[in-house]
Amino acid sequence: MATLSPLSFLATTKVSASSPSLLPSSSRKPSKASPRIAKVSCNASNPQGEPQNNRRDVLVGLGGLGAAAATFSYNPLALADAVATDVHACHKPSLPPGAKPIACCPPNYEDKEPIEYVIPKYTSLRIRTPAHDYADLDKYTKAITIMKSLPDDHPHSWTQQSRIHCAYCHNSYTQVGHKGVEMQVHFSWIFLPFHRWYLYFYERILGKLINDPTFALPFWNWDAPEGMEMPAIFTDRRSPLYNALRNQNHLPPTLVDLNWNGRSTGVDGSGDVEANLATMYRQVYEVKRPLCFYGKPYRAGDKPLSGSGNGSGSIELVPHNTVHSWTGDKTQPNIEDMGALYSAARDPIFYCHHANIDRMWSVWKSFGREDITDPDYQNASYVFYDENLNLVTVKNSDAFDTKKLGYDYKQLDLPWLKYKPTPRRTKAQRHGRKVKKLDLPFTLKDKIVSTVVKRPQTNRSQLEKDEKEESLVFTIQFDRTKHLKFDVLINEEEDYKWANPKYREFAGSFVNVSHAGQDPGATETTFTVGITDLLEQLDADDDDTIVVTLVPQYGDQVIIKDIKISFEECRLR
Ligand code: C2O
Repeated sequence: MATLSPLSFLATTKVSASSPSLLPSSSRKPSKASPRIAKVSCNASNPQGEPQNNRRDVLVGLGGLGAAAATFSYNPLALADAVATDVHACHKPSLPPGAKPIACCPPNYEDKEPIEYVIPKYTSLRIRTPAHDYADLDKYTKAITIMKSLPDDHPHSWTQQSRIHCAYCHNSYTQVGHKGVEMQVHFSWIFLPFHRWYLYFYERILGKLINDPTFALPFWNWDAPEGMEMPAIFTDRRSPLYNALRNQNHLPPTLVDLNWNGRSTGVDGSGDVEANLATMYRQVYEVKRPLCFYGKPYRAGDKPLSGSGNGSGSIELVPHNTVHSWTGDKTQPNIEDMGALYSAARDPIFYCHHANIDRMWSVWKSFGREDITDPDYQNASYVFYDENLNLVTVKNSDAFDTKKLGYDYKQLDLPWLKYKPTPRRTKAQRHGRKVKKLDLPFTLKDKIVSTVVKRPQTNRSQLEKDEKEESLVFTIQFDRTKHLKFDVLINEEEDYKWANPKYREFAGSFVNVSHAGQDPGATETTFTVGITDLLEQLDADDDDTIVVTLVPQYGDQVIIKDIKISFEECRLR
């Protein structure tokens, strides 16, 4: 099925009764001092029948219920809260080595208390269209030209818009109620909703600057062959959409490499179309559980990337991170602009890349996949300047339906749905070299290594498989300021150097884009790859063990602290 169906709307969204104009201010009400939502828990029963004394497990377990069936009630025993952004504690960012010092905090934040954002009642939709077939280029360049002409300290200026990203991912903002704890919008389940809000206000502000509330952003359609070049609207040197700090070998007609290894896998330095499509199938269609796709829980007080249990979802690692690294300028210290989180949003192509990431969220939901009902997810909140210069607080649950936000994506074919990876070899063709179990922890640097991992359970029933994804979970430690990519192959003891994602033996990749945060240097996280379908296709579902091969592709070393198979990991922390 290759079309987008209307999204089911899972949460109650506040919609004001105001006009669809750009000025919904009459419908605003000041938010309470803290944008945090009261501690809530869920009294719906747990589909796994697990003991309900661990609140977090119970909440996350709800992912298995139809969201409509879930009802929420106050629970005085609740322990955590949703993360919320403390604008008043904004401070200088932590930056990776080699980055020029910059400020990231929004202007005037000391004086303004954020108010709760009320979504205008939109009567027509802004339809975002592919950048290679974009009819509104004149409007877009005009709006960006005006944005770039605003003084740096104007909240709508180009400088300020790009600094939003720096503030939210380099330890400028802290969390409400958790003094000094970094607010970080990557590496967890808030990755998709935060970026949806960010683009929403960017689009509204651009529309306001040209007095056209119907203005809609383009998206970089890198998931289809016709959109795999860097979109030409960004590569014209005379255009305000141009940026010089990009990989100069990747200008059109080079195709994007969604599996970018620091060098191209395809012929002529281009990405390989089939490998790109198979990558989309594996990272989007095949990832059925929301916590595997979105990322793992991140709650108030949690330090990002500083302990096992947190981690990016499949969409963030690949293609999100790989497209960032593919686009950035390799001659810069941190692959600026797109290759480092603090600088990425200085490149106009950032917003086009993220529009397609956002579209992939809508596409994924259109497959009938459940959403996350945990209140700590639903209530996570951020602060932005809206198009009317109000400092506003917005939360995840108001961002689930793009139509409530007044936009949608042009419906396009999804060619990758036909590109399910296929086995490179049959079981009989495998050489069966004996592989030893490596002692943990071990360091992965420039050598390919193989180890054996025991499976706790084989031949699960279809029902069990539908409920829980068999997952390979790595606990890894690495330097977050450095670039890193390694691939994971299953049952490839020998001649595995091909590492091509169009083959089924390729299970996934861990990719880090340079960033810095509260804790300098080494950082620990989990990396999860689903292998249920993969093991069936490799005819390995009755094997007690699997061979796991790790292929370092570029960057710094990584310490592999643990490798295990779990049937829970995408759902529980
Ligand atoms: Cu906030 Cu593409 O990263």
